[in-house]
Amino acid sequence: MAYHLKFILAVFLAITVFGKAGAVELPPPADLSRQSALPSRKVTVVEPHESTHERQKLVEYMALPVDGLLAHWFGGRRVSEEAEIVFLAKDGYRSVISGPQLKKYRAFLAFARSDGAPFTVDNSSQNERKIPLGPYYLIWDNREVPELLRQGAYGWPYQVTAVEWHSKSEDRALLPARTSSTLEQGFAETKGYCLTCHNIRGIGGKKYPVDLIRALCRWQEPDLKAWIDSPSRIKPGTAMPPLARLLPEAERQRMIGRIAGYLDAMKVESSEACARSAP
Ligand code: HEC
Repeated sequence: MAYHLKFILAVFLAITVFGKAGAVELPPPADLSRQSALPSRKVTVVEPHESTHERQKLVEYMALPVDGLLAHWFGGRRVSEEAEIVFLAKDGYRSVISGPQLKKYRAFLAFARSDGAPFTVDNSSQNERKIPLGPYYLIWDNREVPELLRQGAYGWPYQVTAVEWHSKSEDRALLPARTSSTLEQGFAETKGYCLTCHNIRGIGGKKYPVDLIRALCRWQEPDLKAWIDSPSRIKPGTAMPPLARLLPEAERQRMIGRIAGYLDAMKVESSEACARSAP
């Protein structure tokens, strides 16, 4: 009996403190440093929003280590292969970082620049300048890590206000009924590169409000591929960035093909939804 009561109490606490998916609202940096007993430190990175193939720009930030913060927020919970840590931004942007990625590389939550310069960044691929990064900006110790450098700004959400703990299995709902390894790869890429801003069946970012599959009812595959490849060629000044511009071109084109293939399979599956929304 006592055991059951304790269990119920623990579940109740878990739900009230963390919410259903384990959401943590982030306090101001000074409070976060004090509560977690983690000292802030200087971290120098290749700033992916302002670097190109030809020119790397180094920036030094003040930051707290993500592994220490996760231990502080989620206690003994193990960062397994299935774990996914979601970083939520003010404007509805949602960045999902996988357990293996967090175990392999060193991540930090930055809250200022060490030289006192404004905590902002220019994001040329989204045609935006002097974007405020605070309250928190997820950064990676990428200087000696080619794999991280190739990923560019993916996995570097800014204006982060909350962190959630999820499991990979939760988004099985986004796989077509008849799936294949190519479709699964296309889904994983769509998740990493598109569902930060877009959402499907309510899962994903809310930067663009319309369900992505529903929006695609109006699109033909060749146009979609051209759009993913270079949105600003089709609509100058758009806030949608081109796909992974630091990857080698042949690899990028194959990825565009798989993402379009996955989205098309989802569209076929929800064809009644398209029929209903047709004019
Ligand atoms: C950084 C946020 C961001 C990312 C990442 C992103 N998009 Fe977008 N997307 C937008 C925004 C913003 C718009 C609206 C663009 C406009 O009208 O200027 C948009 C528009 C679109 C549209 C047109 C929607 C419609 O109603 O017709 C499609 C299709 C689309 N995106 C697909 C994708 C795909 C596929 C990916 C991944 C390869 C992707 N987007 C990645 C932000 C993003």
